Amino acid sequence: MSRPRRGRKYLVAMVGLPARGKTFTARKIAGYMGWLGYPTRSFNVGEARREQLGPGQSHDFFDPSNRDAAEQRGALGQQVLDEAMAWLRGEGRIAIYDATNSTKARRDAIRARCAAEDREFLFVEISNDDPVAIEANVRETKLSSPDYSGFSTEEALQDFRARIAHYEAIYEPLGEEEGSWVRLRDRGRQVVIHEVFGWIPGRILSLLTNLQVSRRPVWITRHGQSQFNVEDRIGGDSGLSGAGAAYATNLARYVRENPPGEDLDVWTSTLQRTIQTAAPLEREFGDWRALDEIDAGICDGMTYGEVRERMPAEYEARRLDKFDYRYPRGESYRDVVQRLDRVIVELERYRTPVLVVAHRAVLRVLTAYFLQIPVEKSPWIDLPLHTIVKLTPTAYGCIEERTVLPPQVGEAETGQPS
Ligand code: F6P
Repeated sequence: MSRPRRGRKYLVAMVGLPARGKTFTARKIAGYMGWLGYPTRSFNVGEARREQLGPGQSHDFFDPSNRDAAEQRGALGQQVLDEAMAWLRGEGRIAIYDATNSTKARRDAIRARCAAEDREFLFVEISNDDPVAIEANVRETKLSSPDYSGFSTEEALQDFRARIAHYEAIYEPLGEEEGSWVRLRDRGRQVVIHEVFGWIPGRILSLLTNLQVSRRPVWITRHGQSQFNVEDRIGGDSGLSGAGAAYATNLARYVRENPPGEDLDVWTSTLQRTIQTAAPLEREFGDWRALDEIDAGICDGMTYGEVRERMPAEYEARRLDKFDYRYPRGESYRDVVQRLDRVIVELERYRTPVLVVAHRAVLRVLTAYFLQIPVEKSPWIDLPLHTIVKLTPTAYGCIEERTVLPPQVGEAETGQPS
């Protein structure tokens, strides 16, 4: 059995009956691996069908005994696979092939194609027989699909159930002889891992084994204004200013009046300014070193003006490539992504609401993940002081709501263009 070498490219093929959460999972993998820095894209056969044939095929179109339609579906599947493989020949590192891939013959063809083009593959099977979960998924993601515009809810439900039945008639679960795969059963209650090796599949597994489908929000806020913020100094471990302390009190009041739930968990960094901001919440909180602010290395404690004056070359290098610029003996934004990896996986695992009290660079990187902003753009995300941001996951994205709390403080966002 050969193990993937560094730099190998991957086709991740979803497997599963309709309405099991394949697209949700495919997008989560794409978001997470993209955020980690691997060019990743999901290729969805349903979207290609709607684009080319128009929406609104009834369940007959998915009946395996309907030969014409089966041919059309086969051709569409092939075309989308071609697109995914073409993307891997270019800039892509991980292509996710989001289709039912419900028969062994179909998957054998995918494996053969990957072998022919010298690509690694991983099948991700989502299996769920709980009628309540399936119905909830159909209602949330399928009824609003263009396939059912003009249908009554009952008509749409009936048609979709019939569509599922057509696939059930031919569905073959993944077998021992099918190489590298993972099966998630009943929303992760059981995970079967079969011949999965390598760093990239390992990161995908880490996400998949922790992924919850529940829609609980994550709140994020920067600490209240610190002494260093007042002086426009970067880094350090200063305490809160008077205005910062007032924000901490107001934040606690806001959380009391807008209860995210009794079971709210509060996470801070290990730095004083976040711990002091969380203190009035009067809850136990976990302090994470991974949430500490970007390490400014030899520039820690300086103002942006001082950096520009004393180290013009460093200042200019950061201005030109803020994402990859690493402070001498410190960190870059890309480094921050690496250390936030486990925070993201933990946030995906959590079933209870979480409030993260942290710092500008760190929260920019977390925000990029949730709002699916390309992570290279994270250094320019606007995240002012004294603002609480609620991020609520939806089926395929995230809703962002911002609340500015008093006291308002200006911030000298001078130095580095933000
Ligand atoms: O100024 C506050 C601060 O959190 C600094 O400690 C940190 O170095 C900086 O913001 C990060 O923002 P930028 O990457 O835009 O310099």
